[in-house]
Amino acid sequence: MANVIIVGAQWGDEGKGKVVDIYTEYAKDVVRYQGGNNAGHTLVVGNEKTVLHLIPSGILHEGKRCIIGNGVVLDPKVFLEEIDKLKKKGYLKNDSQLVVDGNVHIIMPYHKAIDIARESNSGARKIGTTGRGIGPTYEDKVGRRGIRFIDLIRPEIFARKVKEMLPEKNFLLEKMLGCPTLDESAIIEEYSAYGQLLSKYLGNASKLLNQSISEGQNILFEGAQGSLLDVDHGTYPYVTSSSTIAGGACTGTGVGPRFIDAVVGISKAYVTRVGEGPFPTELNDEMGEKLRQAGQEFGATTGRPRRCGWFDAVALREAVRTNGMTGLAITKMDVLNDLETIKICTAYSYRGEMLEDFPQDLEVLKECKPVYEEVDGWNCDLSKATSFETLPEKAQDYLKKLEQVTGCPAVLVSIGPRRSETIQVKNPFN
Ligand code: GDP
Ligand code: IMO
Ligand code: MG
Repeated sequence: MANVIIVGAQWGDEGKGKVVDIYTEYAKDVVRYQGGNNAGHTLVVGNEKTVLHLIPSGILHEGKRCIIGNGVVLDPKVFLEEIDKLKKKGYLKNDSQLVVDGNVHIIMPYHKAIDIARESNSGARKIGTTGRGIGPTYEDKVGRRGIRFIDLIRPEIFARKVKEMLPEKNFLLEKMLGCPTLDESAIIEEYSAYGQLLSKYLGNASKLLNQSISEGQNILFEGAQGSLLDVDHGTYPYVTSSSTIAGGACTGTGVGPRFIDAVVGISKAYVTRVGEGPFPTELNDEMGEKLRQAGQEFGATTGRPRRCGWFDAVALREAVRTNGMTGLAITKMDVLNDLETIKICTAYSYRGEMLEDFPQDLEVLKECKPVYEEVDGWNCDLSKATSFETLPEKAQDYLKKLEQVTGCPAVLVSIGPRRSETIQVKNPFN
């Protein structure tokens, strides 16, 4: 028996969805533990592409239970749309495949309005959020003013909570942020209807998952965003508002840390970032554009072009440490196919000083210049490879180099977006 956490090892969009879809085969339950529909997780099976924002990426496997843990924030409208799309494609035949924990916090219309207004009012200080209301929802959760899934599905309690909350939100929207106010009865009517449609998914994630553990079944925890977007350990304030690292899997589901057996960090063979914030290996040149085109680096949630750069071992070592990572899944190797040489950042230079560790101080990070090692590219197609050994020698060397500079073994290599374009080096469930 093994319980495995999947985390993003960079700034998100590393290919977590694809890896979760592959590992679902070995698990009984797949559970999201934080974030909301700021996430966009892409799965490609054959020629069919599915993008999931809230529902765990195990949902394409019939008979696997997909759970939304208490640490997630949920937009009920988006959730219903996602369910509908999946059902139209022939998935989610049995509603018992999907469970939402009662303590999940609900993203309300005022959260979205505040998120968008704050961003548009903050000029150069904006974060570049996804505008999905994530930050304001987590603020209310920690401020003990949130509305939970259990409240949404009980009409009287829900109406009372909206009536309590809305005057303050409308004051903020109108007087501070210069936005239109929101209508109380319209919200109550619309969201109560969502609550009634969704009540059948209510469950206790902690209880269900611990039951699975006691039966000797495997659990797969699906992280969203990336380690460097973690609210505590990321490039604050240019982060998301949840605990994206492996520790978040325990608080976000109600499963104790002693039941976690492996933490697999997903990393691209290079780096991307969407939104604002420092990014030492960013390439604002032809090479950056080449990576963007070859990797089709456009956001799965907002469609924004992703910023691209060389692999950053300094940032990755930080993620290896904060997650207690046991293995790395390296994705998008194929994007580097036609490069003569490839650069790997192994240290930073800061005012003439060499830094091996990722600085906590954003003012320092902003000034860091990458120190590169240049290695040979493999300069050919990887699609024939079916194992680590059948990869071209130079591609094997690149992967070994990444293992060496990060101090973490590669357990999976991805050579294309499809489920089939995957090399499993070591199964973390064994
Ligand atoms: P996530 O948020 O971590 O699940 O990642 P996204 O789905 O936002 O972005 C990853 C993108 O890369 C998606 O379009 C995937 O289909 C695609 N992808 C994943 N692995 C590979 C790979 O090995 N090669 C290529 N070319 N694309 C990949
Ligand atoms: P997945 O799960 C990449 C970024 C936003 C912004 C910052 C804060 O697909 O990897 P938020 O809306 O969360 O308040 O935005 O975090 N961000 C992501 N970047 N992938 C994601 O999710 C992201 N979710 C949020 O661009 O910089
Ligand atoms: Mg994504």
